[in-house]
Amino acid sequence: MNITLRQLKVFSSVARNLSFTKAADEMHLTQPAVSMQVKQLESQLEVALFEQLGKKIFLTEAGNEVYLYARLIHEKLDEMKAILDGIKGLHYGKLSITVATTANYFAPPLLSTFYQRFPGLNIVLDITNRKAILKQLVNNEVDLVIMGQPPKNMEIDLEAAPFMENELVIIAPANHPLAKRKKIPPKALEAETFLVREPGSGTRYAMERYFKSHELDITTGMEVSSDEAIKQSVQAGLGLGFLSSDAVQTELMLDRLAVLDMEFPPRKRYWHIVHRKGKRLSAFAQAFKNFIIEEAPKILNKDGI
Ligand code: PGA
Repeated sequence: MNITLRQLKVFSSVARNLSFTKAADEMHLTQPAVSMQVKQLESQLEVALFEQLGKKIFLTEAGNEVYLYARLIHEKLDEMKAILDGIKGLHYGKLSITVATTANYFAPPLLSTFYQRFPGLNIVLDITNRKAILKQLVNNEVDLVIMGQPPKNMEIDLEAAPFMENELVIIAPANHPLAKRKKIPPKALEAETFLVREPGSGTRYAMERYFKSHELDITTGMEVSSDEAIKQSVQAGLGLGFLSSDAVQTELMLDRLAVLDMEFPPRKRYWHIVHRKGKRLSAFAQAFKNFIIEEAPKILNKDGI
């Protein structure tokens, strides 16, 4: 068998996107070049990897198997490269980190401090919600993630270290009547409309648990997929919001938003640095994990654990 890593890489891109056109974009190749690589791989392996039904392409059973092994081969190659980077010293290397949408409010100063220490590091940062983060962990597509509460029951084991408080708050426009009240009983929220994050957001999940634990029947208004849009909408008077206090520091300082003084505030949570249990972290990933646990609260002027 005379297959090449290049063929596997091109094939994986087509398999991931289920599209020759998207794979060509991703790989910076022409579409005929992509088709050619896949054809050569098929002829080497003597199986069809894709089938076309209507306008869509699907992986065949053999294609699914090859995709699985192609991913494993690339993971192992990345791991080898990371280990060699460690042996060569922390000079050059790559670190892929994904942070929850909300954690993006404090991630940049942390990444910038870390990067100043290791300027040879190539950081690939992705920002997405909790559900997408968990998918990346399952697919072993990321070194480390920063997220809110990791789930307890998952198909894979995770190693999660809490490193900083994550206070969840209910926000209103600064001139909202509730903004002046003290010890607001949860039932008072039933008269309000809440703007909500998209399904799959950890913040939304925490909000739903809060409402459920107080048996509240809440009216929800617009659904928006970013904390930024929630804040803007709350300021515009479209409803109240439920967010991490890390996302609203600037607006509180500028008196654009107010945190409601609840009789029973949402339960205190923590930010976690997470990776798959048993994953062989590269020297950079290990250094970043230690850095977050030991230094993040200090750099951000926040309470540690
Ligand atoms: P998210 O982040 O709402 O953007 O998903 C918070 C979390 O991970 O809990």
